[in-house]
Amino acid sequence: MKKVLYSATKPTGLLTLGNYLGAIKNWLPLQDEYSCYFCIANLHAHTVDMNPDFVYNNTLKQLAMFLACGLDPKKAVIYVQSQVKEHSELCWLLNCNTMMGEASRMTQFKDKSQKGTSVTTALFTYPVLMAADILLYNTDIVPVGEDQVQHVELTRDIATRFNHKFGNTFVIPKAVVPKVGARIKGLLNPESKMGKTDDDANNIIFLHDSDEEITRKIKRAVTDSLSQIKFDEKNQPGVSNLLTIISACENVPISEVESSLAGQNYGALKKRATEAVISVVKPIREKYEYYMNNLNELLKIANDGAKKAEKVAIKTLEKAKKAMGLL
Ligand code: TYM
Repeated sequence: MKKVLYSATKPTGLLTLGNYLGAIKNWLPLQDEYSCYFCIANLHAHTVDMNPDFVYNNTLKQLAMFLACGLDPKKAVIYVQSQVKEHSELCWLLNCNTMMGEASRMTQFKDKSQKGTSVTTALFTYPVLMAADILLYNTDIVPVGEDQVQHVELTRDIATRFNHKFGNTFVIPKAVVPKVGARIKGLLNPESKMGKTDDDANNIIFLHDSDEEITRKIKRAVTDSLSQIKFDEKNQPGVSNLLTIISACENVPISEVESSLAGQNYGALKKRATEAVISVVKPIREKYEYYMNNLNELLKIANDGAKKAEKVAIKTLEKAKKAMGLL
């Protein structure tokens, strides 16, 4: 039997080059080898203050982007989290098996709760819902960017505790991160991650950006005054980020990109980065436009995906309820 791969994105904005290089790109070649589930985690979106139209539209846009990137509903189950109600129910069961201490240690919760004015209980239990997502499908691997690894580790701990307490119920999943691209940084702020909810769009490359926007954004990307193209994340974060982006887009090791640009100026580095990004984004953008003009096709894919996901989810939930002595 094929092993199971599970991953998801949260529709709090449009997908970025970070989402692609850190996650989606690495899902693509595994669609034949694994039994894959790709989810738009719209329940997670509401852990912070969200406008309903915004969430609805971004759910469809992310779905269109999944397809444009090459996720294939004939090979993988592609669905929207809120359409499979077992996620919420398993989340409750797992909440009963998660310790306050371990949830409090999650760095994403600490960062977000420090920034936000209104912090919901759902933001606190966010990783428990993620655990429910993953465990419902008997997942073996979860390919994610670096920022999600801690949540997958927590999922393992919750599942192990549950199995120990109530008998073997869940498969213990494992996070998989790419060698290059696990943490793409912002263009203007290369100290922190390129995130889709950033206020400044110039910090982000979106997968639907035009060639002109990509060129303009990379031209403005922060570098430094050292005038040397060297991969040194501590002292040259901006240059290192551009080298990482080139490496991940061209599928060439960072050291090779670095040596091929040796002795050249930052203009040459940015030109190479622009070409590398456009070669990845352009074909995705063109397909994205097609799907966005065919919303009925998208809704059908979501509905079909939810039906397939539900079949597996119901079984796992029943097993967990029975193990916990719930009628
Ligand atoms: P989200 O939407 O923030 O990100 C989706 C995926 O993209 C990766 N990623 C990045 N990788 C490299 N560089 C970046 N700058 C960058 N930004 C984002 C993330 O690591 C992630 O793999 N909680 C998840 C969604 C989720 C999920 C799940 C993931 C819900 N349930 C179950 C895996 C399994 C999230 O917020 O993704």
